[in-house]
Amino acid sequence: MYKDLNTPIRTILTPGPVEVDPRVLRVMSAPILGQFDPAFTDIMNEVMDMLRKLFKTDNQWAFPVDGTSRSGIEAMLCSVIEPGDRVLVPVFGRFGYLLMEICERYGAEVKAIHQEWGAVFDPKAVIQEMDDWKPDIVAMVHAETSTGCMQPLKEIGQACRERHLYFIVDAVASVGGVDVRVDEWFIDGLIAGTQKCLSVPAGMSPLTYNERIQKRIARRKKVERGIATEEELQQKAATFIKSNYFDLSMLQDYWGPRRLNHHTEATSMLYALREGLRLVLNEGLENRFERHKYHERALVSGLKAMGMELFGDTSAKLPTVTCIKIPDGADGDSVRRMLLDQFGIEIATSFGPLHGKILRVGTMGYSCRRENILTFLGAFEAVLIRHGILVEKGAALQAALDYYTNENKLSN
Ligand SMILES: Cc1ncc(COP(=O)(O)O)c(C=O)c1O
Repeated sequence: MYKDLNTPIRTILTPGPVEVDPRVLRVMSAPILGQFDPAFTDIMNEVMDMLRKLFKTDNQWAFPVDGTSRSGIEAMLCSVIEPGDRVLVPVFGRFGYLLMEICERYGAEVKAIHQEWGAVFDPKAVIQEMDDWKPDIVAMVHAETSTGCMQPLKEIGQACRERHLYFIVDAVASVGGVDVRVDEWFIDGLIAGTQKCLSVPAGMSPLTYNERIQKRIARRKKVERGIATEEELQQKAATFIKSNYFDLSMLQDYWGPRRLNHHTEATSMLYALREGLRLVLNEGLENRFERHKYHERALVSGLKAMGMELFGDTSAKLPTVTCIKIPDGADGDSVRRMLLDQFGIEIATSFGPLHGKILRVGTMGYSCRRENILTFLGAFEAVLIRHGILVEKGAALQAALDYYTNENKLSN
């Protein structure tokens, strides 16, 4: 006999996955509906409408791909990239490499330009590279969770549009937590994630794309044999989209009025996404962005009072991820382990060159709450003291409490 599943209660302060709002968990236990039941297709339409608002776009197409965030990234890239396309990827952290990796797998000629981890690109440097190398597509990350940095996009987007390039953005870690403006920033295709600032479990990747991309994928359309019309069977695009699961032209027919069968929709995940979006939009996008910055300031004031140094260019700091330099003499993995074992608090390390050098604290969505910030600061201080690090005892919590008392604008 197996025992009941009995998961421990945690305070999750990683850059994803984050704590899920209990209201989202509640709707996940709603009864299943058939995927062509009008009661369900109404939910699909509502989700599309909510996503357009979230993305600040008038695009017709905004829907989730089933799978984690990289499924949305892969769907976008494999549907847009034709073999031999030149894709420029400005890399300033781990997830830029993920974009490169996916582009390469779909036959693109990829060129990376690099920025030191902890900083972002001067848009002019990216634009210069576009003019020198003449790519067909520019793909880049907006919020690099691996370094806690956020890249300004509008100037790059505008330059792409003027040069008739496609601009594709991974905004997995920013959508729902900081301002993202698809239309105003000239973004042709954008991918978000559920498990970060939307506070929905991992398992769907909402995306949007405009008419420019829609036209391109229409040219590459190939409908599955068992469901294609006679006419569709005759048309076989020379460079048809190579993935079945991630083919946006087929997904579009499933999400659009044709309701052409593709995969079986992940019903409970869609309920969760709908509830997550409802909560975000009811809070108000601007209020939500302000809430993230508000708690970020409390966290940073506590960390600084304690004597911690932040990693990265503060002018490019992502409000939802705070990177702390591990103090000399402390073992970051041991600090994290003790936070989890003794306090039930999870924070993250980083990747590649930053592993063992920084700790990352995510303050996203439902996890971004006063009690989480205060609990973390108190626990972090205690754990550092146990690791022999000299900190200003008591200062972190007092600084954060002062901040919350003096800046009492938000209730939680
Ligand atoms: C910026 C960014 N892009 C892409 C991903 C990949 O997402 P997933 O792990 O959900 O596939 C992540 C996940 O942490 C991320 O932070």
